[in-house]
Amino acid sequence: MVKQNRKIKVICVAAARPNFMKVAPLLEEFRKHQEFKPILVHTGQHYDYNMSSSFFKELNIQKPNYNLGIKAGLHGEQTGRTMIEFEKVCLKEKPQLIIVVGDVNATIACALVASKLHIKIAHIEAGLRSFDRSMPEETNRILTDHISDYLFTSCEDGGKNLLKEGIDKKKIFFVGNIMIDTLFKQQKKSKKSKILKKLGIESKQYALLTLHRPSNVDNKKRLKTLLQTFNIIQKEIRIIYPIHPRTKKRIKEFGFEKYIKKMKNFIITPPLGYLDMICLLDNTKFLMTDSGGTQEESTILKIPCLTLRENTERPITVDIGTNIIVGTNKNKIIKETDKILSGKNKKGKIPSLWDGHTAQRIIKILKKD
Ligand code: UD1
Repeated sequence: MVKQNRKIKVICVAAARPNFMKVAPLLEEFRKHQEFKPILVHTGQHYDYNMSSSFFKELNIQKPNYNLGIKAGLHGEQTGRTMIEFEKVCLKEKPQLIIVVGDVNATIACALVASKLHIKIAHIEAGLRSFDRSMPEETNRILTDHISDYLFTSCEDGGKNLLKEGIDKKKIFFVGNIMIDTLFKQQKKSKKSKILKKLGIESKQYALLTLHRPSNVDNKKRLKTLLQTFNIIQKEIRIIYPIHPRTKKRIKEFGFEKYIKKMKNFIITPPLGYLDMICLLDNTKFLMTDSGGTQEESTILKIPCLTLRENTERPITVDIGTNIIVGTNKNKIIKETDKILSGKNKKGKIPSLWDGHTAQRIIKILKKD
């Protein structure tokens, strides 16, 4: 990498809630290496206090040098606006490297801008594949990987996927899972969270739910089936659901509010901060989710996880972790729930290099080049 004024200028991009716990350890590690000048760009895809600022506060992330204020929009619109604004930042700052994480629209938008400007690109969480092109994230993942110069993978299957797609093995680096760096760092603090008390619940006496995938919540029939399933489960165990803004909008639009009100043991909370969420996850009897990151967090915390999707881009959580893919079939979800409630849950192991030192490994590799 060309070193201007001796410092290597690196733009780190964060856009949406699942990105913040991935950039936090990276920025912290950069602070220990004076040869880098990190610049943080928040694209503003997520903007509510509890979807964004609360994470900056709790994870002690520096104030972004730029906030692009992109907010919501159709895919083309959101991606396009991110590109227009991010290009301006790149032209002004002239970084030698940009780092993008995960698979949100900003990941591909910013990588594409950098690629056209001949700026090197590092992609953290490269190689994950659901093999389901109906997911917007799958397109973002594939395209970002194919224009990146450093592909940092969180698990060995990620590397294999990349090799199969013809990516040069010299660009692929198995560094482990950066989100787990944050989880280990914050776990002690999360134990002090008052969220159980606030919600009036006790450890292992509830199930935790996350649900926001367009394929689950934008489809009226599927969302109805899922709610009917939760209605059955909440008769056995209380369900805690920190609701995502997308799902909240859809519930209102589809007129499901009345139905939910009748489910006395189905407790909806606003989106929660990182520490409260980890505390809830650490204490739950089991997790039901369609998120990506929580599948990994539950594997680390050895919490049984039922994934409400037909596939996962994180198969390691199924192969060696606590995850089971149940899809959106009512009978399958109830059957697996019953197994967990009767103590017959899957016991998982920890994937390799999910050890809290991923950011260190990434910076070591960047320093060598
Ligand atoms: C995005 C990511 C998804 C990720 C998810 C985590 C893409 C294609 N999708 O989906 O991969 O799993 O974030 O949450 O990038 N909203 C608010 N306040 C906010 C943020 C969003 O009200 O702070 C509303 C928006 O106005 C919009 C809806 O929630 O109507 C969806 O937001 P958007 O960022 O478009 O996608 P997500 O569903 O959050």
